[in-house]
Amino acid sequence: MTMTGNTSLTKPEAIPDWPAPPVQYREPLTIGPLRLSSRFHLAPLAGYTNWPFRLSVREIGGVGLCTSDLVNARAILEGARKTMSLLATDPRERPLFVQIFGAKAEELAAAARWLIDHHLADGIDINMGCPVRKVVKTGGGSALLCDTSGGTVELVRKVVEAVAPVPVTVKMRLGWDDQNWTAPFFARAFEEVGVAAVTIHGRTREQGFSGTVRLEGIRQVVEAVRHIPVFGNGDVRTIMDAARMISVTGCHGIAIGRGALADPWIFRQLDAWVRTGHPGPRPTYHERLQFMRLHLRRLVEWKGDEKYGCIQFRKVATWYCKALRLPKKVQQRLVMLSNLREFEEIIGPYVELGPPPGWTEHEAMGTPVPVPAGPISYW
Ligand SMILES: Cc1cc2nc3c(=O)[nH]c(=O)nc-3n(C[C@H](O)[C@H](O)[C@H](O)COP(=O)(O)O)c2cc1C
Repeated sequence: MTMTGNTSLTKPEAIPDWPAPPVQYREPLTIGPLRLSSRFHLAPLAGYTNWPFRLSVREIGGVGLCTSDLVNARAILEGARKTMSLLATDPRERPLFVQIFGAKAEELAAAARWLIDHHLADGIDINMGCPVRKVVKTGGGSALLCDTSGGTVELVRKVVEAVAPVPVTVKMRLGWDDQNWTAPFFARAFEEVGVAAVTIHGRTREQGFSGTVRLEGIRQVVEAVRHIPVFGNGDVRTIMDAARMISVTGCHGIAIGRGALADPWIFRQLDAWVRTGHPGPRPTYHERLQFMRLHLRRLVEWKGDEKYGCIQFRKVATWYCKALRLPKKVQQRLVMLSNLREFEEIIGPYVELGPPPGWTEHEAMGTPVPVPAGPISYW
């Protein structure tokens, strides 16, 4: 910043110098026949990335693609009621990939075909990252990264063939443990059988959600493929994190999970940064309140029942309270919420009053939001 004459001019509240945006990110990215409007992708978060959240985040802008929570392939074929609810979508949230898990090629292929025949997805994502014991003990999730002898690649081939020309992607980890970073091998092999893109979470199964994301592992996956896009994933919460992920790994896009729970505006900011070099305006206090209300209303719509929708909302209420700096008593009431009228009663005074003294958009962006570390705290 150039200072002229007036020495009382100080730099306003720590405005960071944004890193130069990667020029290649301005070019459209395609996954098979789909052209994405941005290279930033909402990663699946079981229990959170249902249509109410996906659509609300998309409407803010900057999201190129969303993927559903993981869904059991067998349960799809059985028509399980809970599974059908997970598959619920809204016509406005396209393109959408549905993520399936399982260990049997025939089941995965049939479930993928069913989803496409029922117009529930624009693409299929196969889960090879889930570390949860219940999933890996049946041979699904990250356990699939252990079979380099042909079984896993064959399974993927069958899914690709079942839905062609609809794109199939795979979301995986680096491998089972540090002695077995099988992801680069698989990325190449998957490309050869027709996979349209891969997402790589830079941790091993053994790591769970602890430790740091190994960017060098993501880079190895990027270097292993020929043409298909690779989405880097893990611990991206800010523009600085994204810039680092892109510059170190060369990834073609970024998938963001927990960072979007903590800050649903992250995609809009990243997209603006890519296009203009600056992330644009931060969400205001009222925008945040409005987003919270919309999320709740859609959860109620999704569940078709006020009480159940409110129960879903309880687990996210705390995050909104933190960023808005709402008093503890508000938080305590919201985590017990049971209907929409009560929500309006609780929130009404804060809508009227506006932000508490000292609240700034800048500070709200930096508030640590205690989003879950992993799908369950123990596996
Ligand atoms: C609560 C929770 C649920 C998750 N559910 C899924 C899932 O259904 N499918 C999947 O592939 N990954 C799942 N993940 C992993 C995330 O998609 C992502 O790979 C991981 O959290 C690292 O990225 P992030 O730091 O941007 O969140 C889950 C993670 C969390 C925290």
